[in-house]
Amino acid sequence: MEIQILAALFGLLSCNLTKEEPMKTFKSFTPPLSYEQADSIAGELLSKMTIDEKIEMIGGHHMFYTFGVERLGIPPLLMSDATQGIRMLPHIKEKIGKSVAFPCPILLSSTWNPSLAYNYAKSIGEECRAANISILLGPGVNIYRVSQNGRNFEYFGEDPYLAARMVENYIVGLQETGTIATLKHFMCNNHEYHRRTTNVIVDERTLHEIYLPVFKAGIDAGAMAVMTAYNQINGEYCGQSKYVITDILRNELGFKWLVMSDWWSTFDPIKTINSGLDLEMPGHTIEESPAIKALGDPYLRTNAKKLLNDGKITEQQIDRMVRSILRTSVAMQLYDRKADTSYMAKFSDHEKVALETAREGVVLLKNNGILPLAGKKKIIITGDNANKLPYGLGSAMVEGYNHVTLRQAMENIFKEKVVYVEHPLDDEIKQADAVVINIGTIDSEGFDRPFDLPDEINQTILHATSINPNVILVINTGGGINMTPWIDKVAAIVYAWYPGQIGNQAVAEILAGQVNPSGKLPISIEKQFSDSPGYGYIPEGSTMENNWNNDLNIKLPITNVEYKEGILVGYRWYDTKNIEPLFPFGHGLSYTTFEYNNLNCNDKLKKTEEKFEVNLSIKNTGKVKGAEIVQLYIRDPESAVIRPIKELKGFKKIWLNPGEQKTITIMLNRNDFAYWDPSIKSWKVEPGKFILMVGSSSRDIRLQKEIEVE
Ligand code: BGC
Repeated sequence: MEIQILAALFGLLSCNLTKEEPMKTFKSFTPPLSYEQADSIAGELLSKMTIDEKIEMIGGHHMFYTFGVERLGIPPLLMSDATQGIRMLPHIKEKIGKSVAFPCPILLSSTWNPSLAYNYAKSIGEECRAANISILLGPGVNIYRVSQNGRNFEYFGEDPYLAARMVENYIVGLQETGTIATLKHFMCNNHEYHRRTTNVIVDERTLHEIYLPVFKAGIDAGAMAVMTAYNQINGEYCGQSKYVITDILRNELGFKWLVMSDWWSTFDPIKTINSGLDLEMPGHTIEESPAIKALGDPYLRTNAKKLLNDGKITEQQIDRMVRSILRTSVAMQLYDRKADTSYMAKFSDHEKVALETAREGVVLLKNNGILPLAGKKKIIITGDNANKLPYGLGSAMVEGYNHVTLRQAMENIFKEKVVYVEHPLDDEIKQADAVVINIGTIDSEGFDRPFDLPDEINQTILHATSINPNVILVINTGGGINMTPWIDKVAAIVYAWYPGQIGNQAVAEILAGQVNPSGKLPISIEKQFSDSPGYGYIPEGSTMENNWNNDLNIKLPITNVEYKEGILVGYRWYDTKNIEPLFPFGHGLSYTTFEYNNLNCNDKLKKTEEKFEVNLSIKNTGKVKGAEIVQLYIRDPESAVIRPIKELKGFKKIWLNPGEQKTITIMLNRNDFAYWDPSIKSWKVEPGKFILMVGSSSRDIRLQKEIEVE
């Protein structure tokens, strides 16, 4: 009976589900002017510039501007963070007053919906146009290696394939508005702990299979800028490394446009000019802190004149840098445009995109049946985050406006059935039909945060569960946290990430059953941090610093962080090492159920074939509408080299009414079966048997089939 009432309720309320399917065909971005056209104009401009003007141009100005040459009609160009909207610094606030705070990128990735990545980025691009921001300093695309990384919230998770599909759509969506996207941080900036004094040691196969594919996808999608990382790779700072910039980024990945450094990350002007970098950031600063002053004057621009006079660098080298900056700007017609405040009329549409993203990206991790909360009469909402908007901090922080807290969102929906209590008494907890506790971590650029929650929070949760079994956690964070202390005791867990200015509305809709959750984890969450492939990246005996104090201290000894796990990042590690994660990659619950049937494909991928078609049918076997994210993994059971037990090579998000069944097609490419072979510096497919696995998460495989690849 209760099920029928619920079903009827869902029938009425589930209209929020989007009908849109992921984009069928992906089309890369091409700038208004081709490389050759832009290059010839850049060459002309360059020929009119004095050496002093050229030197000015190879560094940033006023923290976020390029250098303008008024007499040549070259205006200074404004850059701004971040991947999740516009960072509202005072000079931008002056122009547009406000800008939407979108849910964080890891939430976007949890939607597994590339169309949303496109819409999300297009909305941000339009806000950039309103503020005359020419270059967005995002998307950040570093792979999730350790749960403690303070910047995981800014990125797209642990899997190169999923992240690549989201990021390529982000690039196109953003750049179609005329705003340049900046892929960052190139490369292997996978933790924040002493990021400027970390030397990442990573092998070539791992780079190609795990850390480069997202950058490659972004570049192939047409990204017009790349920002280098703070850390060193194999002994050299990325921002001044010829190997990183010229050998890998330019020559191997084929990137032709603007390469800038991260802020204060180059320390040797000769190496910097030889590396292939175009623009050293931030150059002149608005206000120099003692820590920045302590770095000295290692910059290319300030030293260039002397180095030229001493014959240590050449004017041609400076010309190369300037020409790249000019060429990129000309190709995007950045010198010809003005702020377009008419885009401000679209901010309310952007807010809708932000809300839609949250509806699809919030992940229901656990549900003993308590959710949705229909029929509950007395609900308490409490917890540190309930009455405020949770954010990730650092340069990615976007302020937003019209903030909706979880308390407000729940009050709007549940009316008098919900009450906010800051510190509920035991009797209040006992008498409630459900207790929603909204907690989380404050993740930030510049430092990492512990996997474990503070004991005080764990105790609050344990205490509540000891007197009321109906405790629901809503968690705001950018990555995995330690849930082991109370995982068996709570009734439900909603992973809401940092939901942005309006995302809490989606959380409340999910709690109420107005929206059926469909997000799935783009990460694995370990039971304990020592299970993680990256465990041990903080040297033994050192403590994690939860502050910025050492961020600019490059006098600290360089710590080698060896990526010993190689290609076994995320679920590749947990699967291959037989370690059970608490929640596997790809996991996320729905209020309905799905049945997988009829996996159908050829038995063989012939030598002459490039594409391989996989079909299967999915049926909604529950009582409410819902979306399923169908995941296709492959395995090479016999190989000359180690291959992960599973590798994601395709997915599709599909919306189904109760009882509805659809056939879906996922296309594989020959290259999806390949691994990177360093001996030939190329991808290699080993002919033989492969296993295709289709499932609802990386650990919930429903159908599988063996095929032969010739
Ligand atoms: C961050 C970059 C950011 C830059 C400018 C740096 O600290 O690492 O991601 O774009 O600041 O704000």
